[in-house]
Amino acid sequence: MKSTLNWRFDATLVNVAGPMPQPRRARKPRPAQALEQRLENHTARLAVIGLGYVGLPLAVEMAQAGFEVVGIDIDEKRVKLLNQGQSYIQDVPTTDVAELVREKRFRATTDFSSLRECDTVNICVPTPLSKQRDPDVSYIVAAATEVARYLHKGQLVILESTTYPGTTDELVLPMLSESGLEVGKDFFLAFSPERVDPGNPTYNTRNIPKVVGGVTPACTSAAVRLYRQRLEHVVAVSSPQVAEMVKLLENTFRSVNIGLVNELALMCARLKIDVWEVIRAAATKPFGFMPFYPGPGLGGHCIPIDPFYLSWKARASGFEARFIELAGHVNGHMPDHVVDLVLEALNRQGKSVRGSKVLVLGVAYKADIDDVRESPSLDIMEKLREKGARIEYSDPHVASIAFAGGRLNSVPLTAARVKAFDCLVVATAHKAFDYSELLQWSKAIVDTRNALAEKRSPKIVRL
Ligand SMILES: NC(=O)c1ccc[n+]([C@@H]2O[C@H](COP(=O)([O-])OP(=O)(O)OC[C@H]3O[C@@H](n4cnc5c(N)ncnc54)[C@H](O)[C@@H]3O)[C@@H](O)[C@H]2O)c1
Repeated sequence: MKSTLNWRFDATLVNVAGPMPQPRRARKPRPAQALEQRLENHTARLAVIGLGYVGLPLAVEMAQAGFEVVGIDIDEKRVKLLNQGQSYIQDVPTTDVAELVREKRFRATTDFSSLRECDTVNICVPTPLSKQRDPDVSYIVAAATEVARYLHKGQLVILESTTYPGTTDELVLPMLSESGLEVGKDFFLAFSPERVDPGNPTYNTRNIPKVVGGVTPACTSAAVRLYRQRLEHVVAVSSPQVAEMVKLLENTFRSVNIGLVNELALMCARLKIDVWEVIRAAATKPFGFMPFYPGPGLGGHCIPIDPFYLSWKARASGFEARFIELAGHVNGHMPDHVVDLVLEALNRQGKSVRGSKVLVLGVAYKADIDDVRESPSLDIMEKLREKGARIEYSDPHVASIAFAGGRLNSVPLTAARVKAFDCLVVATAHKAFDYSELLQWSKAIVDTRNALAEKRSPKIVRL
């Protein structure tokens, strides 16, 4: 364990760094005291870099707590929309943004020099994979370069982008230290993973516990102080590396369990056992089991990507992360399996895939949201197109998508339109779909999500 934490325990702060030390009043560096005072009386000015699914909800929460918040993004269109009081993120109501802009508690800009006036900076930029499937931390480097340029005494910098353990200490800290300022004394640096779950009606930025690990105890203390002004639970850990690893454990846990259940689904298909019934029954066990469900493949900006940040880091130190690679292999094969199911559905009608009309239902990567990043639907559509199928899609949350070098618009689900397709594929189980009608109108329907669990029909081909 790298450091001992020294603040008092209270209902909103959980210290998981080890046995709780006796409350001991360590003398804090003067810049830390001044910052904490401004955080407590809400006179601190806050900056959020990267106003996407993670950054915008955080900026709005903090502005609603009474802080003056500036959001910085390189996307001019997004900045313009926000300053007009409009949200482009489903979970952030436009009315909230409009009110905060009107009251001058939130503004957006592309100008990083605003950081000069800010007491805190939260970095929420993307962390994708490169073409070689290695971490692409160029967005973090770009943001940290700007932060370093305007770093000043008493400033708190928190990285929130999901990344490999060591990024804060090994990549960001040296960039900020070039200023000559000393971490933990002159400025404060921490990592705090974002756990937001877009479209989740129960858990949001405010009530999801926030894990925080600072480079020094003073850094952790300052970051905890910031989040406690608005968030309901803050969990302090002993270092940025632990906080970085927490996020990767969470998403690797999901990826591996989904991989396991996808393999089980393929196995059950071979053994002619209904995998959905097996999971339903197993989930009645009140302890020691948590249900995961098979599907057409992984999607979104987290689960298909984050575990590879961890395996890359492990590989760099000579460790092979076998579970991660295996889960990636099984999950990555699922779109091919769905294509096989479509071939079976067409075959039952005496049709070949070439020239057949296939309608994919749902292109968002999960139900009831509008995010298509890494969506397996796109993979399935592309694979079917390569085999000569004529592909269209319908998604109430996604009006149009880039596809095959052009654009496709969502097809309205009328009886006449649906009846014209040889096969439907339920790729995302949006609540807005009327599955009874779709079954009635379809010639064949491949169900990758068990959305037609209650239905019995020879037209259904289940995953
Ligand atoms: N989306 C999720 O559900 C989710 C959940 C937990 C964690 N995360 C992690 O949070 C991070 C951000 O993800 P997101 O989903 O919010 O991404 P996003 O693509 O929705 O938003 C990122 C924003 O950052 C902006 N940006 C890019 N480079 C920039 C730069 N140099 N300076 C300023 N702005 C810049 C982009 O224009 C964009 O608006 C990623 O590391 C992601 O893995 C995402």
